[in-house]
Amino acid sequence: MRKLVYLFTIILFVSCKNSEDVVSSVAAERGVIAEKAIVVSARKEASAIGLSILQKGGNAFDAMIATKMALAVSYPFAGNLGGGGFMVYRTANGETGALDYREKAPLLSSKNMYLDEDGNVLPQKSRLGAMAVGVPGTVAGIFETHERFGSMPIAKILEPVIQLAEKGFVITEKQQRNFIKYRQLFFEANQDTILFARTYAEGDTLKNPALAKTLKRLVKNGRAEFYEGETGEKMVNYLQEKGGILSMEDLEEYHTHWRDPVNVKFKNLNIISMPPPSSGGIVLGQILKMIEDFPLDEYGHNSLKTIQVLTEAERRAYADRSFYLGDPDYVDIPVDSLLSSGYLDRRMNTFSFEKATPSSSLEHGKIPGYESDETTHFSIVDQYGNAIAVTTTLNGAYGSKLYVEELGFFLNNEMDDFSSKPGFPNMFGLIGAEANAIAPGKKMLSSMTPTIIEKNGEFWMSVGSPGGSTIITSVLQTILNVSEFDMTMQQAVNAPRFHHQWLPDEILFEPSAFSEEILGSLRKKGYNINEGESTIIGKVDAILKLPDGRYEGGADRRGDDAAVGF
Ligand code: DON
Repeated sequence: MRKLVYLFTIILFVSCKNSEDVVSSVAAERGVIAEKAIVVSARKEASAIGLSILQKGGNAFDAMIATKMALAVSYPFAGNLGGGGFMVYRTANGETGALDYREKAPLLSSKNMYLDEDGNVLPQKSRLGAMAVGVPGTVAGIFETHERFGSMPIAKILEPVIQLAEKGFVITEKQQRNFIKYRQLFFEANQDTILFARTYAEGDTLKNPALAKTLKRLVKNGRAEFYEGETGEKMVNYLQEKGGILSMEDLEEYHTHWRDPVNVKFKNLNIISMPPPSSGGIVLGQILKMIEDFPLDEYGHNSLKTIQVLTEAERRAYADRSFYLGDPDYVDIPVDSLLSSGYLDRRMNTFSFEKATPSSSLEHGKIPGYESDETTHFSIVDQYGNAIAVTTTLNGAYGSKLYVEELGFFLNNEMDDFSSKPGFPNMFGLIGAEANAIAPGKKMLSSMTPTIIEKNGEFWMSVGSPGGSTIITSVLQTILNVSEFDMTMQQAVNAPRFHHQWLPDEILFEPSAFSEEILGSLRKKGYNINEGESTIIGKVDAILKLPDGRYEGGADRRGDDAAVGF
């Protein structure tokens, strides 16, 4: 069947940019096809810079650093120096691993820091301005990656990024709309008109010379520039001036963690994904194991039965997320039990096609002995066979909106990913418990799900997405669209998505993408439908290895995302 789809799919090869046959732009039904290497990210400038590093002989890790920093320049919505993220990798010889460069709670933070005297949550405090900022991990993440896997000098890797910051990037229509949308909040957080709050038209070129200077100092002084040097000091001064609690001590104590990825077998696929402090790998793995025995391909893509099975598995997995998951350096997480087939079969025992399981009747599962919107993803495969999946974030759009003008970058509002108070939803409607309570130095629980998949022991897919709580289910559906529903990578990314996260007890649907017949049938079975509160669900960038050994990039139509390859 898959072969037939390939056969009838119209493949459009668009524009060869330079002599090396760079393929750019995206075809409707099938994404960009590349012979040897491919980069898919949220901006074409960033994808092109990543690819240029590969063309100079660099590897996927060198390209990761370049792409990531190019996103900080051209996609300040989520690309960052003032945030954090995760990388999952698989090297050409099959070694896999994960890097955690997630933000941390400042040392002066405390469990009830976002509550007023009466114990009520002050949601703005964890979202806007200086108190929302967690200790950034991005710069540590890129230097750690470079130290372990880099093959080119950092100066050479960052050269095109610095040029991009100096020469500028072209503002897209979506970007221009966002600058206007967030202008008032930029002003509230900074009490000043920052670079991105000025008036721009679509097509204008935006230069960020301050960021170019910061990047040059990073080249010169390395990681210490950010965690001990001038950049760190300027950032901390700015934060403290605006009422923040982050100090130089926080920066000095920051470190990344290499972690063992979550490994889950789903049919003939080996899913390699992000472990805690992200919930991504565990929740994705739980859902996949819970649905494994249902013949989704027979039910059909986005059919009533498929939606029911996925929804009920998602509901159960997110209930566990809320109770069990947090920073593994602070809480014990029963990872093996949560992913064991026996446990997950029991969780699905109460499922029936006749009727929805109300979330109010469902808690986290019982494990014996246990007490207790903005992000961006990119995927790269290089010509040597190394693959990476990276998701990085400031949390909300432009993070805390706090922008250090002198340094050229935004600071995150990742503190909102903690549970400010048990049962009180964060900006993604997620509720948490003790496991994800605030503590000094602790990492806030994430949903980011950078994932690499092997088939028959070889690289098969690299995938990930932004979207807060909807990241996990976006990644899930993208995988299933290819593995169960025979779609091309681009079709899998394009297909309409839905999402359930236990609480609120509703299925979120992308607007106007699901028939009234299906929605009506779901309502009759007791499902609450939310169609339209979110305009899009996830923004997936992914790479699939085709049977003939070439790669297909899937760049999400929902953004300005672009795949390029050679
Ligand atoms: O780590 C997390 O799960 C969130 N901070 C991700 C935020 C996000 O995806 C926003 N993008 N739409």
